[in-house]
Amino acid sequence: MAFESKIRTIKWNGDSSRMIDQTIIPYEFKYVDIKTGDDMFVAIKDMIVRGAPAIGIAGAHGVVLYALEFEKQNLSLEEFKKKLIEKSDYLISSRPTAVNLKWAVEQQKDIIKNSKSDIQTIINDLTTNAVKLENEDIEINKKIGDYGAEVVPKGATILTHCNAGALATVGYGTALGVVRSAYAKDNTVQVFADETRPRQQGARLTTFELAMDGIPVTLITDGMCSYFMKKGMIDLVCTGADRIALNGDSANKIGTYTVAISAKYHNVPFYIAAPLSTIDINIKSGDEIPIEERSHEEVTHINGKIVCSDKAKVINPGFDVTPNELIAGIITEKGILRPPYEKSIKEAFNI
Ligand code: MRU
Repeated sequence: MAFESKIRTIKWNGDSSRMIDQTIIPYEFKYVDIKTGDDMFVAIKDMIVRGAPAIGIAGAHGVVLYALEFEKQNLSLEEFKKKLIEKSDYLISSRPTAVNLKWAVEQQKDIIKNSKSDIQTIINDLTTNAVKLENEDIEINKKIGDYGAEVVPKGATILTHCNAGALATVGYGTALGVVRSAYAKDNTVQVFADETRPRQQGARLTTFELAMDGIPVTLITDGMCSYFMKKGMIDLVCTGADRIALNGDSANKIGTYTVAISAKYHNVPFYIAAPLSTIDINIKSGDEIPIEERSHEEVTHINGKIVCSDKAKVINPGFDVTPNELIAGIITEKGILRPPYEKSIKEAFNI
């Protein structure tokens, strides 16, 4: 059963991409219009838009924005296509871990490469595809939500890490889509949200969007999950993913792996909720997933203030990989995939 979220994270707006600026939540809630391809690169890299499915849509919009710019430059069809393919690859490089970005931009590249038409038709086709991906994302999330709701016990407390909600997608969420669908059936369901250092997507975004939709949420810091699991206060963990390998190993926000280990130890089922577009069937295991290294300042500073010795060394991987054996199921729009994942993933892809 779908529960409508009040949030629409990203939308094609005729000649620009309108998105919620996620860097300023919870202090401000406002939309920005991204009008050029280069600005879209920055919006993705600086995480004005973030979350694997949302940056996929942003990437698709970015290709249209570059196309609109090149249209004004009186290029030949061949030059137009060449420049657009180069800029598409540039957009893909903005964030390396979430495969949805590559997945969506590669679709746009196929349209460019395979087209036998004029520039205007290519722009129309790219726009149509971007809007289609946008609309499908919400429908896919609702299916994920409904499949996932079936494994949520009555009155459950669901722990989540980072933000895999409406703000990480077009407007419903994957892990929080499961929460929304479960809550629509049973309003005694509640969420424990990990703060998610260093960028605090759990604190800033997950609590914000759940509170906005009236779903009960309790904020905890990242180190607290084992404490609450040991007390029997967590019934289920559900997180999103940025890239899932063919064997089910799943990359998600740094800290997810720790939560999964703790869940295994305490016999709490750990689920990943993600669309099939997050599954990278070209890689066999999580060892092949590229992990984004982000700015050290995200770790050394909080709200612009340094919180450590300036002599400390810093490492800041943005994601970690949860091994498949810790995952009870991968909730997709085609149902819940169970181990052994290579078999269930191949079945979902009909390969
Ligand atoms: O760095 P972020 O905020 O883009 O990381 C987001 C996550 O790790 C999400 O859990 C993941 O993208 C799934 S979103 C449905």
